[in-house]
Amino acid sequence: MPEAQFVPKSDTKALRNGSFSWQSPSNIALVKYWGKYGEQLPKNASISFTLSSSCTTTTLSFSEKNTEDFEFEVYLDGKRERTFEPKIIKFFERVEVYLPFLKEYHFKIETSNSFPHSSGIASSASGMSALALCLMSLERELSNFEMAEAFFYKKASFLARLGSGSACRSMEGELVVWGEHSKIKGSSNLFGIKYPYEVHDRFKNFQDTILLVDKGEKQVSSTVGHNLMQDHPFAEQRFQQANDNLSRLIPVLENGNLPEFIKIVEQEALSLHAMMLTSQPNFILMKPNTLEIINRIWNFRKETKSNVCFTLDAGANVHVLYPEHEKEEILGFIKQELVPFCKQGEFILDQVGFGAKPL
Ligand code: DP6
Repeated sequence: MPEAQFVPKSDTKALRNGSFSWQSPSNIALVKYWGKYGEQLPKNASISFTLSSSCTTTTLSFSEKNTEDFEFEVYLDGKRERTFEPKIIKFFERVEVYLPFLKEYHFKIETSNSFPHSSGIASSASGMSALALCLMSLERELSNFEMAEAFFYKKASFLARLGSGSACRSMEGELVVWGEHSKIKGSSNLFGIKYPYEVHDRFKNFQDTILLVDKGEKQVSSTVGHNLMQDHPFAEQRFQQANDNLSRLIPVLENGNLPEFIKIVEQEALSLHAMMLTSQPNFILMKPNTLEIINRIWNFRKETKSNVCFTLDAGANVHVLYPEHEKEEILGFIKQELVPFCKQGEFILDQVGFGAKPL
């Protein structure tokens, strides 16, 4: 079993209490993960830009205990957040075999996001990634630092995946692949890897302006969403399309062909929503303002030959992607023409980043 590499040998050091803090970014998928099997394994490979400003900061404090159960409290922005507990219990149950010390400690998990909680931006990727990194810091210390750096990140990504699939793409920058793909060396369903091939300078500081169209609770949880792919009439074609799109992206990422990049990225976003439109039950997660924004981006591109494009997650918000050298012109367009379609005019300026940081 390939997972066996993540089961540690016995601890070499005793540790009574302490704390670790990590800041971990969110990520935005260019080729989307939608559909899973087994224990959090993806039905197709995906690739994402790691973001820079949208992130979660987590401090994990631990102290020894003698009881049999998992014991922890979660705080969001200093306030106890009991609604996060079921997800974390499930996570602890899944990862206990890989982190056998989990029941030996009482944990206090203090977390905060750089983006507003009600922004509709998923915090599960950055949140689960930050928590997995804190747990790995503890494991590394318990092993008396007998752990290679590469293994540390690989296992952190492996654990984060068991919390939330896309979280395994939030450890490193600037591009991360998750899911076995015949053309990507080292790719795995178990963890994310840093994209291993050449990347054109154009993509290294790509901009992502996130337009907050709908800030409410998610209409479809990701678990429900992924399950919709199980008996979906187009499931197999979709998984094939995603893997093909990743193959098409490899030369594009190397030669900086922006028109081709745009075609792939927008097709991915719309295919993701097409899956939701045609599943049973079905969902329309785009709002009228989402469509208005998309149409305006298309018109602007036609009129100006600009290289602006969009992508979407499983919601109504729009990620506007563009190269840094066109920033001034595109940001002017965004502020003037697109921001009026955001809830309370809110948006987040972000760009490609380099991954998680210990604090
Ligand atoms: C549409 O990673 O949130 O953002 O594994 O159930 O936690 P779980 O799902 P999640 O799904 C993300 C789906 C997506 C596309 C993507 O990020 O690849």
